[in-house]
Formats: sequence, structure tokens, C-alpha cells
Amino acid sequence: MERSREADSLTPADRQWWRDAVIYQVYLRSFADDNGDGTGDIAGLRSRLPYLESLGVDGIWINPWYESPFNDGGYDVADYRSIHPRFGTLEEAKSLIEEARDNNLRLLVDLVPNHTSSEHAWFRGALASPPGSPERARYHFSPGRGEDGSIPPSDWRSVFGGPAWSRVPDGEWYLHLFDVTQPDLNWANREVREEFDEIIRFWLDLGVDGFRVDVAHALAKDPEYPDVGEEVEELLATPDSLDHHPFWDRPELHEIVRGWRSVLEEYESTVMVAEAWLPSWERMSRYLRPGEYHQAFDFLFLQSPWDPDEMRRAVSEALSHSASVGSIPTWVLSNHDVVRHATRFALPNDVDAREWLLDGDRSLLDERRGLRRARAASLLMLALPGSAYLYQGEELGLPEVHDLPSEVLQDPVWEDSGHTHKGRDGCRVPLPWARTGASLGFGSNGPWLPQPPWWDDLSVEAQDGVDGSTLELYRRALGLRRHHLRGSDRLEWVDVAPGVLAFTRANGFACWVNFGDGTVAMPPGRLILSSGDLPGDGLPGETAVWVQLDHQE
Ligand code: NOJ
Repeated sequence: MERSREADSLTPADRQWWRDAVIYQVYLRSFADDNGDGTGDIAGLRSRLPYLESLGVDGIWINPWYESPFNDGGYDVADYRSIHPRFGTLEEAKSLIEEARDNNLRLLVDLVPNHTSSEHAWFRGALASPPGSPERARYHFSPGRGEDGSIPPSDWRSVFGGPAWSRVPDGEWYLHLFDVTQPDLNWANREVREEFDEIIRFWLDLGVDGFRVDVAHALAKDPEYPDVGEEVEELLATPDSLDHHPFWDRPELHEIVRGWRSVLEEYESTVMVAEAWLPSWERMSRYLRPGEYHQAFDFLFLQSPWDPDEMRRAVSEALSHSASVGSIPTWVLSNHDVVRHATRFALPNDVDAREWLLDGDRSLLDERRGLRRARAASLLMLALPGSAYLYQGEELGLPEVHDLPSEVLQDPVWEDSGHTHKGRDGCRVPLPWARTGASLGFGSNGPWLPQPPWWDDLSVEAQDGVDGSTLELYRRALGLRRHHLRGSDRLEWVDVAPGVLAFTRANGFACWVNFGDGTVAMPPGRLILSSGDLPGDGLPGETAVWVQLDHQE
């Protein structure tokens, strides 16, 4: 399908549609299963487009749906131009792209440029070719150290755990910053660049609106492979440790990004969003400079604890740093890699949710509080200038499934970390659509990861049309956001009371979030929306409200 919109008919707002768009992340494997094989698929997604329309989002981002051995949930791509049979066919993908367009939903796909699968034809070719061959030059192959080359070329560690180098039978080593089945591509290689330009064109020609770019901060590597000198266990290093880092956030990657951007500019209204876990807004803003990414997820906001000062700082810094390069923030609270925010906020601020998963000590968990705070945080996020990404299931208030038995875990993090990190399966459990059925309406048979039986009460069926449900809260918030906040970047902080974060936007719209436990006075004005019950005259603790201020209708 050719892109159908005429360039001339686009308004400037259309061209920058992404600036305040709300995009819904579809983790396809867990969204809706049409053929009953326990895994979500394109047909399932197509059947649920009306749901997404009624939710009121502007578009969807689909996690990798390509041919893959699925050692890392599809982030190990074997063929960038094909659809994995478990999800459907390329024809079905084309139909989905058309239907999304007909329903005014933008559609982004995932671009995975840092590594391929070890099943990719290029890597198989590299293994079949000798050291020094052009086939090996597309990846990072290197002799080892020591007399017999048995020591890896450097001390780099994989993000998932263990060394980042593995040895092949002829004695060379190859780099994989993630799983052993995800060899890193060499972006200094011309063929790699040309191939990705063509992959980008392939999907844009099919009509997608853009790309979420995986590990955008990893692409470039120091060709000398110097030792890091310390174990880099965490994705997020300190800002200083990134200066001259051999593989994170290297300055030369920006030129690669500018190349992709110029391909995107051949098409109208397309967008790229960077997945870059960076330790400062200053570094993040470099990805948003003119000619680079349109958007970069603000993971520093996502990582902010339930604390008004930290949240305010996160918002202010993101706004000012992105504005300094002529851009605007992209907010996110949950995704397929992090503990769901309803569970993060159910834990004390000083508990690292990812580490807590290992034993899942329930005495630390207050689930009602988590949901209350999550709903308030979502209203805060949706009231901010900029765009927002929602992760499937957050509109149902889904928590992390923290008690999955180890036998069902599929995330490579569990094995690669030597069982010291439980991994990300708990946020990837299939959606509950109905109160009953083998997989609560996800499909006709059991799902690929078990759902807690009590999710029947969180299902779409249980919440649809129910006043006060999380689903209806999101629907109302998204509708009101379109009405009140479209087209304005303005935000002004108002100091109202300790523990309360308050700001106004355009035309007298205000958002107040009470982070404390006690009730405070309500803002003066007409209540538009509240994240929780308002039993008395005041604004209760852990609650957000949207109001239309007096005299400013
Ligand atoms: C980030 C993706 O979101 C994550 O799921 C994946 O494991 C890594 N990148 C490696 O591709």
C-alpha cells in the first residue's frame, strides 16, 4: 500500500502529530490470541482495534513481530522483512496497517538495529566464513587475549548477565551486549548502514508511521574494545561514567541517527522514538536535536519514586532540556521491560522493584495503595505537555504478576543472570478481556504465561462502562486531554500546599496531585476528573484531580 495522504493536505499540526500524541504499546504476544495457540497475533489485534479506538489513543507501537527464534521475546530478529508465523503473515500485517490508518490510528513498529539474532542469515554467513572476512566485518568479531586467545577481548558484561563475548570454534570471539543469541552489529560497516536504510524504507513503503528504536544508545562501539574496568551490571550508569564509555552513548552514534532521519524525511509525517536508558536529561536531549529523533522515552520520569519533589524535578528538567533543542518530552510509566507502575508504587520508595521480584516479599506490598497511586500518576502524566506512551493493561490497572513459578519463566534474564534476576515475564502476562474462559478472553486456550485467576475482576468486561473503573478513568482522561490540552505546550507550576504537585495548562486547566496521605483543600474550580473517590470536600491523599479553574472557562 502506498502512503495515501497527500503532502499538500497536511497541516503543520498534522506534520507534528507526535508532539502530544498518546501511543498505546501493543505487546503482541500478550494482547489477543485469535487462533487459540496461546500466543497473541495480528488477527487478535485487528479484532480489537475498536477497543483501542474507544480508548481514545492516537496510535499504537507494536513490539517486534518479525521472524525470530524468540530467545528474547522477538528482540532477536532473524529476518527484518518478514512476520513471525506465530503472529500471522505479511499480508495480515498490511491489512492491519490499512485498517489502523482507516481508523485514524498511527502505527509504529520496532526497529532493532543494535543486534540481530544468531539465526539471521548474516550471522550464519559470518560463522561459515573465516576470520577477517567481509561477512564477519558486519559484526564485532575479535581474537581473544592471552597466549592461546582464550581470554575475551575485553571485560565487557552482557546487560542480561555474564560476559558480553562468546567464542566460536575457530577461536575468535563475538560481541553480544545482550543474550548470546543476539550478536551486535558493527555500525562502522557500510553494508550494515545500507541494509537498515532499506529495512526502514520497506516498512515505510508499507505505510507504517514510524519506528521505536531499540537500545538507541548502544549502536556505536570503541573499535579497540578497551576494558571498562568495572562491572557494568546496570543499564543506567552515572553521567560521568558515560564520558568516553566504550559502548554506551558514544558521540558517533548521532551521525547514524541523522542518516535514518533523512530516510524518514523522504516520507510525510513519520516519526522515530528512541529507547535510550540514559542517566541525565542533558544526555537525553542530545537525541532530540534537530535532524535526530522526534521523541525519546523519558525513563527518568518512569524511575521517579512516589515523591512530589522528585516528580516535579523530573518534569521540569525534561521540559527545559527538551525545549533547549526545540523538542518536547515523551512520558512513560510502564513498558514490557519494567515492573508495572501499579506494583512499583505499591512498594516503599527505598525498595528496588526489580530486585524485590526475586523473593516477592508480600509484607512490603500494598496493592490498593499501588493502584491508587498508579491512577493518580497516570492522570499526572496525561496532563503534561508532550506525548505519552501507555503499556497495554495499564488502562486496566494491572499489577505485575510477581509470583510466576520459575518453571514458566521465559525471559533470558532469568538464566543469563544465574537466577539472580527474575526477569520481565511478570509484566508480559496476557491481557484479561473477559471474566471467564480458559484465558479470560485472551484466546480460546490457555495463555503462554498463566494469568492470576483474580484478574477476572480486572478484565475489560468487568470494567467496561463501570463508573470509577480504571478503564473508564483512562477513557475519560484521553477524551478530556484531546479537548482541553491539544496544541498547547504551556505548563505553570503553582505552589499550593506541602506534598501537593499542582500546575496549570492552557485555558484554565489545572492538575493537582496530592502525594501525601491526608486530605488537603480542593482547587477552586469545576472538577473535571478525579483519579479516586472524593468522599468529603477536600482532595484526599494519593489522588489527582483535573479542574477547570474559576473564571477561565
Ligand atoms: C530493549 C527491549 O525493550 C528489551 O525487551 C530487549 O530485551 C533489549 N532491548 C534487547 O533488544
